[in-house]
Amino acid sequence: ASSGTLVFFVNGKKVEDANVDPEYTLLTYLRNKLRLCGTKLGCAEGGCGACTVMLSQYDRVKDKVKHFSVNACLAPVASVHGLAVTTVEGIGSTTTGLHAVQDRISRAHGSQCGFCTPGIVMSMYTLLRNNPKPSMADLDEYFTGNLCRCTGYRPILEGFRGLTTDAAAGCGKTDCCKLRGSQSCNEVVDEKVNDVTNSVNGETTEACNLLYDEMQFQPYDPSQEIIFPPELKIR
Ligand code: FES
Ligand code: FES
Repeated sequence: ASSGTLVFFVNGKKVEDANVDPEYTLLTYLRNKLRLCGTKLGCAEGGCGACTVMLSQYDRVKDKVKHFSVNACLAPVASVHGLAVTTVEGIGSTTTGLHAVQDRISRAHGSQCGFCTPGIVMSMYTLLRNNPKPSMADLDEYFTGNLCRCTGYRPILEGFRGLTTDAAAGCGKTDCCKLRGSQSCNEVVDEKVNDVTNSVNGETTEACNLLYDEMQFQPYDPSQEIIFPPELKIR
């Protein structure tokens, strides 16, 4: 490629473009040129996080790959020269199988209209790539740039809690209702597993009305993540 050619990787595939429009943002390029439409256009001014993608860069001094969540609506596409871009399509799909982050937000009812979801997934994904065992405080910090107008955030945060150091091992009871990984498992079990009177035959039964069943969540295995393109380490 000539020195004027834009070279970067998207989801592991190399992109070379000698005639890139300098006015294109990364978001426009992803959606209009590469037809990767999972990354959403919300506000177009860095306020909502719907366009969040992960950029990865090799740090030669530290011999380490660093990952950043960025607003693709603000980043000129020329600024990703020599970098690896990961979009929501790159980490999993209903066809290839969901990533643990996608699986959790879905099962925990953290996605309603779904417009914010790719951005939230990519913020969480980037956090895990930089720190496989974050705290809930780390989540709060990473999500400051992501807005959701539907869920109220609780299902999103609760769904991800099991991936954090704030997760607990469960209540330990043999009949634990399986909110395993939740900090509040013990209290929630006491509070939510109530005696419920069956209105049809008057019998008393136990019911659990928890938000989700964490035992169904996919485990997270950091060793399965996509590899940083080796070519970008020598550029
Ligand atoms: Fe809202 Fe990019 S579209 S931050
Ligand atoms: Fe609708 Fe978040 S699910 S904006």
